[in-house]
Amino acid sequence: MGQETEKYVIRGGKRLEGEVVIAGAKNAALGILAAAVMTDDKVTIENVPNVSDTRTLLKAIENIGASVEFKDEHTVVICGKGVREGQPVDDEYIRKIRASYYLIGALLGKHKYANVALPGGCDIGARPIDLHIKGFEKLGATTQIVSGGSIIAQAKELKGAHIYLDTVSVGATINIMLAASLTPGKTTIENAAKEPHIVDVANFLNTMGASIRGAGTDVIRVRGVEKLHGAEYSIIPDQIEAGTFMAMTVATGGNVLVRNVIPKHLEAISSKLSEMGAHVIEYDDSVRVMADGKLKPTQLKTLPYPGFPTDMQAQIAAILGIADGTSVVTESIFENRFRYVSELARMGAKIRVEGNSAIITGVDKYTGANMTASDLRAGAALVIAALAADGISTIDSIKYIKRGYEEFDKKVSSLGGLMLHAEDERSVMKAKFELASKKIDDDDISTK
Ligand code: UD1
Repeated sequence: MGQETEKYVIRGGKRLEGEVVIAGAKNAALGILAAAVMTDDKVTIENVPNVSDTRTLLKAIENIGASVEFKDEHTVVICGKGVREGQPVDDEYIRKIRASYYLIGALLGKHKYANVALPGGCDIGARPIDLHIKGFEKLGATTQIVSGGSIIAQAKELKGAHIYLDTVSVGATINIMLAASLTPGKTTIENAAKEPHIVDVANFLNTMGASIRGAGTDVIRVRGVEKLHGAEYSIIPDQIEAGTFMAMTVATGGNVLVRNVIPKHLEAISSKLSEMGAHVIEYDDSVRVMADGKLKPTQLKTLPYPGFPTDMQAQIAAILGIADGTSVVTESIFENRFRYVSELARMGAKIRVEGNSAIITGVDKYTGANMTASDLRAGAALVIAALAADGISTIDSIKYIKRGYEEFDKKVSSLGGLMLHAEDERSVMKAKFELASKKIDDDDISTK
């Protein structure tokens, strides 16, 4: 049963109710797993989300000689002692994840040499890595792109430097932090990204003996140390998985306690959902989201943290599509992030894209349709829309969704949502039949 035939089959109309536990942050995990090979000691990392991106990176780390041992589904012990100097990082999977680039910073710092297959990831725009390269070169490395599409970064000596990032970049900030941790002297990263996962990676590096100050502000100062040592660390919760479940609750007029979150990281999302008419109550490490199905339109622009995250843009647009009025969603980070629009149109959404804005005219209801996920968050948006729709939908190319959501169908089902995973056409038919036989109460109808 190939990945290519897998689908989600969803019947909309059920209010989501209950509790959902959020996994560790995928984007923090990717930086932390790469950083773990920078020491020869054992490192134990807890709360690693079991999603395909983290599994792919772990395979790549293993392939270059590190030992990777799972204590349980979410806890991994890594030992980077066996990582071979000069070993290229390249395999059939690594090019598919963008975060393979963190191995450039990690290996350049550790061995002053990295040879890494150029990153792939979701096709949401040009996504260059010029800022990463500029940072490494400022630290004294030379870089070259070699045939077959790999990058080699190397140096005789690295030396701390002052680096100004022209654009706020999560990846470049983390990558430079990684290399600078083992670079003699002081490195300053100005106009650094401030996302919670930047702080998490910095905290992890500091637990391994690095000296990084200012993560979470736009000036990060790194004092290079000679060696990093073993550590135990637990990854922060995934703000985007949390936000996705919050949006899903609002879409279905539900009432859900979203557990294992840091409410502060969710502020931009919570306040947008509140503006739309939802109630969000914050507790110490959970948020309750309640909605009655009546949604107000709003304006939204994606921005680097603490602004509204681009990784939540599609999910919010999916619910604005059934709000009572016209909304405008502007994407300012990536240029290719409206690919879900044509899929939502199959469900009856009225969305017009003009430049980097989507003008969304709310419709009364979506109707079930067959759709394709074009990237990770676009896929999540289609799931949300399908859960709010009349009738049954299918979503294919769910390999993208699995990159970032752990047991998505099971978590949605535990909240009462009618969502099944189907491996092939036969199980799609079976799933449709099973979902059609479920009872949906009259008062279960979501939105308006
Ligand atoms: C990371 C996240 C991704 C999220 C994004 C923005 C990971 C693995 N992925 O992606 O989920 O959507 O942050 O929050 O953590 N840019 C350049 N040159 C560079 C690097 C980036 O011009 O060298 C530009 C990009 O094209 C984009 C902007 O900077 O317009 C921000 O990108 P960046 O923050 O680097 O995103 P990623 O690290 O790729």
